[in-house]
Amino acid sequence: MRHEDQVQMVRRVMRHVEEGTTSYAPKIHRNPISTYTDPERFRREQETVFRNWPVLIGMSNLVAEPGDYVTEDIAGIPAIIVRDREGKVRAFRNVCRHRGARLVEGEGCGLKMFSCPYHAWTYTLDGRLKGIPDAKSFDEVDKAEQGLFEMHAVEKYGLIFVQPEGAMDIDEALGGMQRDMESYGFENFQPYRHLTIRRKFNWKLSPETFMEGYHLQYLHGQTVGPIFFSNLMAFDEFGRNSRLIVPRRRIMELKDKPEDDWKLIPETAIVYNFFPNVTFIMQAGHVEMWRSYPDGAPDRARVEVSVYTPQKVETEKAKAFYDKNIDLAIATVDEEDYPLSEGIQAGHNAAMQDHVTYGKNEPALIHYCTTIDAAIA
Ligand code: FES
Ligand SMILES: [Fe+2]
Repeated sequence: MRHEDQVQMVRRVMRHVEEGTTSYAPKIHRNPISTYTDPERFRREQETVFRNWPVLIGMSNLVAEPGDYVTEDIAGIPAIIVRDREGKVRAFRNVCRHRGARLVEGEGCGLKMFSCPYHAWTYTLDGRLKGIPDAKSFDEVDKAEQGLFEMHAVEKYGLIFVQPEGAMDIDEALGGMQRDMESYGFENFQPYRHLTIRRKFNWKLSPETFMEGYHLQYLHGQTVGPIFFSNLMAFDEFGRNSRLIVPRRRIMELKDKPEDDWKLIPETAIVYNFFPNVTFIMQAGHVEMWRSYPDGAPDRARVEVSVYTPQKVETEKAKAFYDKNIDLAIATVDEEDYPLSEGIQAGHNAAMQDHVTYGKNEPALIHYCTTIDAAIA
């Protein structure tokens, strides 16, 4: 975030601390629990917000060099994300045009060409069909017509987005949040750790658990709660996306320092909510991406957790520093938030009430649920 914006945000947070306030929505909001259980709603979500919108996949160095690739399941769309020989990031459906085999699994680097494991059809990294063993048996196939199906991929601000259908302008999608994104230098960040978490809750419950600070002192009272102000956040929306500034208690010490030295990080955690499914957290030393996907049913989610560091972690000392922070951050969510969210889902599955209620002090939740409702309408 630009320094002038940081100073403004520090002032805003201090005002909240002094006045005992937080960012407020104009009124409370009731969200029907069918949002989390209805199969028809679930189908619509997958077919809209994960199809016609650029979904954040990771940072540029996920595929740092030509020939580096990762695979991803984008809410039912098997995808390959690869850096081609010219250095351009591309995304393809991960299906061979012969009989549909998956071309690659997992991730890898230094690939010269895709070679299908089934009958060895080959494709260039920019998706052209190159070789067919026993080509005369396929003499009616026009190679130019049978390249890989390409999806819209964008690399900007050191971030990679993939849109399975259509091609939206990324700055339009970011809705103003790019002002922050361009200031961090994500081009240089390095992937440090990745894990997959499968849970019995609707995919929206992962982003939602990061969207308010009301629960910090209660649910996280024994872990991270005491470090932060509870029920105190600065919230801003950027089109379909949003940002929450979550202040650590020690932010008030900045009062004794000149404004030129004010920095939001490490005095706060900054949570960026990338529509529709990514919680992107700027922590003191690292960035966490919690990318939540539907996992085949309204009450199942797969969360891909990716941690990035500002530079390569090379020494044991640096590794110990990052591991300590990252372990605590992940354990807090995995052992406190996610079990709680599974309990919420179980209650919703049993139709224990018609709706849940978001208070005025939970503006990010209200923004998120009304945004998704509008997007799938
Ligand atoms: S399915 Fe790929 S070569 Fe046959
Ligand atoms: Fe939490």
